[in-house]
Amino acid sequence: MAVKKEIVMSGIRPTGFLHLGNYFGAIRNYVRMQEDFECYFMVADLHSLTTHPDTTELRSNVERVLAENIACGLDPDKAAFYCQSHVHETAELYLYLNMLAYMGELEKTVTFKDKVRQHPENVNAGLLTYPVLQAADIILHRAKYVPVGKDQEQHLEMARNYVNRFNHRYGEVFPEPQAFNYNAELVKVPSLDGTGKMSKSENGMSTLFLSDEDDAIRKKVMKAKTDSGPTEMNAAKPDYIENIFNLMKLVCEADVIAKYKADYNNCSIRYGDLKKQLGEDMVKFISPIREKINTILPDKAYLKKVMEQGAEKANESAGKTMQLVREAMGLKYF
Ligand code: TRP
Repeated sequence: MAVKKEIVMSGIRPTGFLHLGNYFGAIRNYVRMQEDFECYFMVADLHSLTTHPDTTELRSNVERVLAENIACGLDPDKAAFYCQSHVHETAELYLYLNMLAYMGELEKTVTFKDKVRQHPENVNAGLLTYPVLQAADIILHRAKYVPVGKDQEQHLEMARNYVNRFNHRYGEVFPEPQAFNYNAELVKVPSLDGTGKMSKSENGMSTLFLSDEDDAIRKKVMKAKTDSGPTEMNAAKPDYIENIFNLMKLVCEADVIAKYKADYNNCSIRYGDLKKQLGEDMVKFISPIREKINTILPDKAYLKKVMEQGAEKANESAGKTMQLVREAMGLKYF
């Protein structure tokens, strides 16, 4: 007998240009989850309006996010891969949830306070209710698992609050969504300059993008911070060296890593050679993904088909949930 799979939902902001950190931190999880769960992966184009009211580049950003995720292995035939704006019932559920969301708690949200600080000239109500829209995205499919990082934990907590308020007031419709990751495997990808995680920062030199050309990859890796090497046997590694070894773990063969570790421990390590090796292994890893991105991106007919197919699956699931919602709320008069 076929067992109904548990439902997974996640949203991806259409900011474009994914990097290695996105790949190992999120996308790889999605690719694995699409085998084990009923998955809804959404491009959060409506959310982006809260901070980017100018939509001139929206279409190209959305297309890039689709192409990049598909190039990484996300399969639109397995998961529902769709745009938020193609599922109109999201807006309806968002409206209902807004009545269950309180000003006080919305104002206390960390992401809201950050955005107010960053853009004091554009503190719109959509920004305030950003977590409500996110909750609508998730529970529209009655999803149980949400693969997201730590920065989204507060939004999920709020989604659980709305679920509980709704269920309590109108009857059990929604499961409580919770963060999900394949545990130990939430890999942090360090930045090449030795500080923090790889991110879509101002400093493009310390981040490896999946669309970087081979020479750019090599050049960035060669510029990674090192020093003149250890002077004592089996010395502890400074952070920036530990980071380089962590990057190697992502793409290099185990025996290569073992060799450089041994070289480090007996003080014969040559960072130039190590970085050349790491650069080549990064190129080997990233270039096939880049090539795929570059074939998908110009294929507008394919991208349209992906969006249509995704919208169809997402709307089917949303439609079923919204029937239950309207019924539970007493909004079905005939
Ligand atoms: N807020 C998420 C982010 O900043 C994006 C997002 C929108 C999302 N809707 C979602 C994530 C639903 C998970 C589930 O990355």
